[in-house]
Amino acid sequence: MESNRQQSLFDYLEKKEGSDRPRVAETQLAALEEACRTCNLCTLRSGCRQVVFGDGSPRARLMLVGEGPGADEDRLGKPFIGAAGKLLDRILEAAGLNRDELYITNVVKCRPPRNRLPDTDEVARCLPHLKEQIRLIDPPLIVCLGALATRTMIGSKDTLTRLRGRWYEIEGRRYMPTFHPAALLRDSSKKRPVWEDFKEIAFCYQQITSGG
Ligand code: URA
Ligand code: URA
Repeated sequence: MESNRQQSLFDYLEKKEGSDRPRVAETQLAALEEACRTCNLCTLRSGCRQVVFGDGSPRARLMLVGEGPGADEDRLGKPFIGAAGKLLDRILEAAGLNRDELYITNVVKCRPPRNRLPDTDEVARCLPHLKEQIRLIDPPLIVCLGALATRTMIGSKDTLTRLRGRWYEIEGRRYMPTFHPAALLRDSSKKRPVWEDFKEIAFCYQQITSGG
């Protein structure tokens, strides 16, 4: 009943899409967020405080995708606001990227217990949410932060060290794998490659947003 009503709203909005696509997509994104808040497709929801859906501009031209919420994110409901998030903020600022213009989310929307890696079943059950976020926001550029996001979105099992630093074109979008900011906190030798990656990311972003 409830989901029928939601579906007919979507149908109605789809028909209007031609004239008013961005605003329609924003409405659909808000509806998706609502749906995620009551999702029980895996057991992560019962072990976390809240769903961390994503944060930023629904019209972002650049999306960043991490692994899953940590303790701070679970507590406050926003992605990348703990130690790794603060480092990410510094990287974005140094690259001249304004976090408010971007969209940041994670592969899984609920915090795994003790910050363990989400397992393949949890990733598979949560992935439709991320795919729908990508479809609605429709960013031409996506940054995969860390090995899990890279494996999930690029599909390759090759190491992040080999994959990072290049764009991979998939279904009309470009994906750039780079190291996770939490990995930089553990291993400072990764700072240099991440900086190189973000210079390339910012360069492409400026080209796209300056009308190119
Ligand atoms: N690490 C992630 O992968 N995502 C967050 O939101 C925070 C830390
Ligand atoms: N290696 C890293 O340096 N970072 C990751 O996130 C995964 C593997």
